[in-house]
Amino acid sequence: MASSTSQTSTWWQGAVGYEVYVRSFADSNGDGVGDLAGITERLDYLSWLGVDAVWITPFYPSPGHDHGYDVSDYCEVAPRHGTLADFDALVGAAHRRGLRVMVDIVPNHTSSEHRWFAAARRDPDGEHRSRYLWRDPAPDGGPPNNWRSHFGGPAWTLDEASGQYWCHLFLPEQPDLNWRSEAVRDDFDKILKWWIDRGVDGFRVDVAHGLIKDADWRDNPQIAPLTEGMDPRAAFNAFEHLHDLNQPDNDDIFRRWHRLCAPHQAMLLGEVNPPGPERMSGYVSPGALDRAFFLRLAMLRWEPRRLLEMARAMHDAAPQGISWVMSNHDQPRPVSRFGGGTAGVRRSLAMSTLMMALGGTPFLYQGEELGLDDGVLRGGGYDPVTVRNVGATSGRDGCRTPMPWDSSPHNGFSAAQPWIDAHPRRAGQTVAAQRDDPESPLHCFRSLLAARRQHPDMWRAPLEWIDARDPQVTALRRGSITVVANLSESRTDVALGSPGWQPVFESRSGSRLDGPACDAVSVPAETSVVLVNDQR
Ligand code: NOJ
Repeated sequence: MASSTSQTSTWWQGAVGYEVYVRSFADSNGDGVGDLAGITERLDYLSWLGVDAVWITPFYPSPGHDHGYDVSDYCEVAPRHGTLADFDALVGAAHRRGLRVMVDIVPNHTSSEHRWFAAARRDPDGEHRSRYLWRDPAPDGGPPNNWRSHFGGPAWTLDEASGQYWCHLFLPEQPDLNWRSEAVRDDFDKILKWWIDRGVDGFRVDVAHGLIKDADWRDNPQIAPLTEGMDPRAAFNAFEHLHDLNQPDNDDIFRRWHRLCAPHQAMLLGEVNPPGPERMSGYVSPGALDRAFFLRLAMLRWEPRRLLEMARAMHDAAPQGISWVMSNHDQPRPVSRFGGGTAGVRRSLAMSTLMMALGGTPFLYQGEELGLDDGVLRGGGYDPVTVRNVGATSGRDGCRTPMPWDSSPHNGFSAAQPWIDAHPRRAGQTVAAQRDDPESPLHCFRSLLAARRQHPDMWRAPLEWIDARDPQVTALRRGSITVVANLSESRTDVALGSPGWQPVFESRSGSRLDGPACDAVSVPAETSVVLVNDQR
C-alpha cells in the first residue's frame, strides 16, 4: 500500500486504482454474468499486478436498461451479481491483501423502477414528487427547454397521467433526482453511511457534474446544428452545457459528503466533465471531492500534441487532485483509439508511463494492463446508446467484452455463454499467456507500478516541467525522478542537466533497465522512460 509520512495522509495518496466492470470481469457461478464472488477469486491477480484499490461498477438491483447505472435499490446486491454476504466476503478478502474497495454511487438519477419514482409518478401531490424534476410543457406542448439526453433525444419525457415532463440527462428510465430537495440529500447521506459501515474505502461518484440544474431551467446555447441520424454524443455536444451541467452550487453536495466521509477515510472520486482546468480545480478544492477523473485523455485519438497539452494543463490546475485514466467502460480502448496493433499497444504504454508520473490517483481499466484493443461482437449491440440510435453510433460494447483470463472456452471468464457475445480473444491477449511472457504488456504494467512504488518521488515530489523543445515530447522532473515521454515518430535526445541518471523503466521494452548512469537520454519514438538519480 502506498504510504506517506504526513499527518494528514490518506490511503489514496500515491495509490493506483483498478476499475472492475462487474458484468465482464469474472463469473463464479456460471450464469454468464460477472459477480462479486468472481472478483474475490481474482484478488490475488490484482495484488500481484500491484494496484492498491479496486473500484467496482454498480452491482445493485437494477432493471439493467443502462447495465446497472439505473439503480432500483441503493443498499442491496442484485441477485445476478451475488449477495450482501458476497460483498462482505469481498471486502474482507481485499482488506486482508491490503487492497481498498470503492463502490460506485449513482446520485444523478435512479431507475424509473425505484420506489421513490414509482411513488412520485403515482401521486403528483405526494411527498415523493419533489424528489424528481417535473416541469409543465412549453407553450407549444413540447419539452420545457432544449436540454438533450446524453443517449439521444430530448432530456424530457411526458408523463401522460399528470401532463408534466420529467427530466433525464440519460435514458427516460433514468429519471434525474432533484438535488435541491433536502429529502434526497438526507437519503444519500444515509446510503453513503450504510456502505461506509460495511467497510468500503470510498465512492466513485457517477455524473458528479450534473446533480444540480439551473433553478430557472434556461435553454442551453446551441453551438452546432442538429442533423438527422446524428451520433447522440455529437448531438449532446452541439450545445454549450451552461445550465444543465457544472452548476456552481453543485459542489456544496460534495462538501457535505466530505464531512461525512473524511472521518472514515472514505475517498470521494468524482466523474466530472468540466468545461476547463479552472472548473476542475474547484471540484477538487479542499473539503470537496478528493479526486476527480480527467476523462479527456480517455477520449482522444492519437494526437500527441493535444494529449500532452491537456495532461499538462490539467496537472497544473490540480496537481494532486486528478485521477488520471486512459480508459474506462464508456470509451473505446486506448490501443484501438491510438491506431490498433503493436503501434496502439506501444503508444498506450508510452502514455500510461507518463500518467503514472502526474500525481493524483491514476486508475487502470480491466484489460488495459493486457494491452487489449476493443473486443469484436458476434451479434447485435447491447449498449442502450447503440440499441436506441441504430446506425448512428458504435456505442460502448467494444470495451465491455469479457476479461480474457486464459484460452479455455469463453476465455475463462465464465463456464456459460457470456451475457455479451464477442469473438474469443487470441491466446497472446490472455492473462495466462502474458504472465509467462516477460516482454508482455502485463509485465510492463507490473514493472511500471513497481517502479512507482519503489520511487515515491515519482508521484509525490514537486513537479517541474523540462523544456523538451518539441511539442510532441514532454519531460518532467520530480526530485530524484525524470520522466521523458516521446510521442513523436522519431528518436529524441534530452539533456538531463546533471550526471548520474539511471534508466529504470522503458515503456517499449517493458522491462526494468540496468543501463549505465548518464547525463542525457536518447528515447526511441513513441516511448517513455523513467530515470532515477540517487544523488538528488
Ligand atoms: C457514467 C457511467 O460511466 C456510464 O456508464 C453511465 O451510462 C452514465 N454515467 C449514466 O449513469
